[in-house]
Amino acid sequence: PLTLGLVALLAYLLGAVPFGIVMARLFGLGDLRKIGSGNIGATNVLRTGNKPAAFLTLVLDAAKGGIAVLIARAAVGEDAAQLAGFAAFLGHLFPVYLGFRGGKGVATFLGTLLALAWPVGLAACGTWLAVAAALRYSSLSALVAAVLSPVWAIVLGHGEMAVLAALLAALILIRHAANIRRLIAGTEPKIGRKG
Ligand code: G3P
Repeated sequence: PLTLGLVALLAYLLGAVPFGIVMARLFGLGDLRKIGSGNIGATNVLRTGNKPAAFLTLVLDAAKGGIAVLIARAAVGEDAAQLAGFAAFLGHLFPVYLGFRGGKGVATFLGTLLALAWPVGLAACGTWLAVAAALRYSSLSALVAAVLSPVWAIVLGHGEMAVLAALLAALILIRHAANIRRLIAGTEPKIGRKG
C-alpha cells in the first residue's frame, strides 16, 4: 500500500504539470486561461495560431500520462501502472500548481491508454482523428473517443482496462459540460477557430 501510495502521488505530481500553460509562456503567447475557451490544453493553445506550441502541448500532456504508466509498470507492476495512469489523469484535471483548476484530460487520457495497451490507445487516437477529420470539433472528437474507449478495450482483448477507460471517459464527459452545451447550441468553435 505504501508503494502504491507513492506511485499515485508521483504520478499525480507529474500529471499536474500544465504543459499548455508552460508552452504558452515559453512561446510568449500570454496567459492561456484568458484565451479562447480558457482551457489549458492543446486545442486552446492552437487558438493562438501557434501550431508548434499546440503540438508540443499535445505531445507533452500525453507523454506525462504515458511515462507515469511505464515507470509504474517497470518499478512495481500492472496494477500500479493503471493506478499511475489514473493519478496522472487526475493531476491534469486537478493540478496542485494551478489551485486545482486544470484541464479536460484528453491528451493525458490518450497517452495513458497508449502506454497501458498500445492497440487500445491507437484505436482511441484513430477515433479522435476520424471524428475530427469529418466534423472538425476537438471536443466532440474527444467525447466520442472517450466513450468508445472501454468498447475498444474489450474488443481488442484488454478487458482488464475497460473499467479504468470507462472511469476516465466519465470524467472527460463531465469536464466537457460547457463544450456539450455549445455543441448542442451550435456555437462550439471548430478546430483552430477562436469562436
Ligand atoms: O482537449 C480538450 C478539448 O476536447 C476541448 O478543448 O479548449 O475547445 O474546450 P476546448
